Amino acid sequence: MEESDIICRFLDAELCLHPNVLEQISSMEDPSEIVERLISSTEGNGRIITPEDVRALKTEVVIKKGRLRIAEEYDSEIELRDVSKNAPRRGCIEGFLEHFNSRYEKGLKVFRERKHLIDSHTVEQALAAGGKSDVKIIGLVESVRESKKGNTIIFIEDPSGVIPVVVLKSDRELAEFARTIVNDDILAVEGVTGSREGGIVIAKTLSFPDVPYQRTTESRSEPLAIALVSDIHIGSFEFMEKEFLRFLKWLNCEVGSSRQRELAERVKYMVVAGDLVDGVGIYPGQIDDLNIKDIFSQYKRLSELFDMIPDYIEIIIGPGNHDATRQAEPQTPIFEDYAPGLYENPMIHMVGNPCYARLHGTSVLAYHGRSMDDIISKVPGNSYSEPDKAMLNLLKKRQLVPIFGEKVPVSPGTEDCLFIDEVPDILHCGHVHTTGVQSYRGVTIVNSGAFQSQTDFQKRLNMQPDPGKVPIYEISTRKTTIMKFT
Ligand SMILES: [Fe+2]
Repeated sequence: MEESDIICRFLDAELCLHPNVLEQISSMEDPSEIVERLISSTEGNGRIITPEDVRALKTEVVIKKGRLRIAEEYDSEIELRDVSKNAPRRGCIEGFLEHFNSRYEKGLKVFRERKHLIDSHTVEQALAAGGKSDVKIIGLVESVRESKKGNTIIFIEDPSGVIPVVVLKSDRELAEFARTIVNDDILAVEGVTGSREGGIVIAKTLSFPDVPYQRTTESRSEPLAIALVSDIHIGSFEFMEKEFLRFLKWLNCEVGSSRQRELAERVKYMVVAGDLVDGVGIYPGQIDDLNIKDIFSQYKRLSELFDMIPDYIEIIIGPGNHDATRQAEPQTPIFEDYAPGLYENPMIHMVGNPCYARLHGTSVLAYHGRSMDDIISKVPGNSYSEPDKAMLNLLKKRQLVPIFGEKVPVSPGTEDCLFIDEVPDILHCGHVHTTGVQSYRGVTIVNSGAFQSQTDFQKRLNMQPDPGKVPIYEISTRKTTIMKFT
């Protein structure tokens, strides 16, 4: 139905339209049905149809009960490790000291699993080693700078001191690696101390904690799948309700080819990595971008939509930077007061950001992904159009938030819960609104995109989202299929 036909139909019925309603109706699955329902449910000539009237119609996906779906035949197996509850948060200098000591200890433990680093030196030992000695040190990056001659100087710190490490520009491969190093990274350095009295190390190799080539993973034969979702942004004018409803219909096996419906039948779990709603007051002038202007109503609509998900699918929900919870990471779960409908749904598990989930033997690390803003701006070769590449940096560094003091506020605690201490089968992020999937040493890296079309803010930054897609991971084959709902 063309927009002009919609206007004519309402004029015939002697009804007026709020300026936002036309776009709202046009973007819906069946505009002509919505128009007729609005006309028949509105009393009084000359009345103005508002966005609230359209929302009140509650476009529903009707759950039809028939034979058992494949996923329905299996009992769920869920173990959650919500690290936001791990350590008490301390907003003081001592809290930050504990936080970075914990990061160092966790990194040291991972490095020491490599045989050749078991006998690594402390910075103090390296400083005292004299000239031309082979040393191996493990520490946090205090700072990185370029020398006048174009070499890279990395200041490495451990509890015993700080030592400068030089990466010569003539060692091209190592110099290239050094460009990916950021402040607060944990790093292993093998090198030789300077020729006279030492006090400086010339690097021969540099490495991040990384993921081991071989690790034990659980093989399962159940034909079940996990849907990976993020950045729904309900409340925004750009929320793609029509496409999201198509996704819900697919989960209900109502749309798609027979092969796609068969895949839908196998979805047993859904993991949502934050930004469920657009929120309120997230950036200046956001109010003009909202068609649902209060956050309680945004979560209410979200709950209504999630109630349309088949009742055998377990849903794990963590927050993002648009959600109603603490902004500093690790974030606590979305507050119950704002989203009571989600807490009332027995199939929904509300967790913090980040969170580890083991689902039928498959371990998923869900993290919203705000630190990708820092990685993309600081590490050459990364971009918003290839989110999986930026996520690979996080995995190799074993840090969800590598840099302290940039765009991500961090809440310090007795433990650095943002260190990746358990290598997952799936690293799942969102935040950047583009979809990307890749595999690295047995870990599937997934960015699940969004259900929000390009906002004015993104237009100004020349960011091109890639919304309306949902990656589906099959547990038995470890294969990921990207379902498109646009
Ligand atoms: Fe988002």
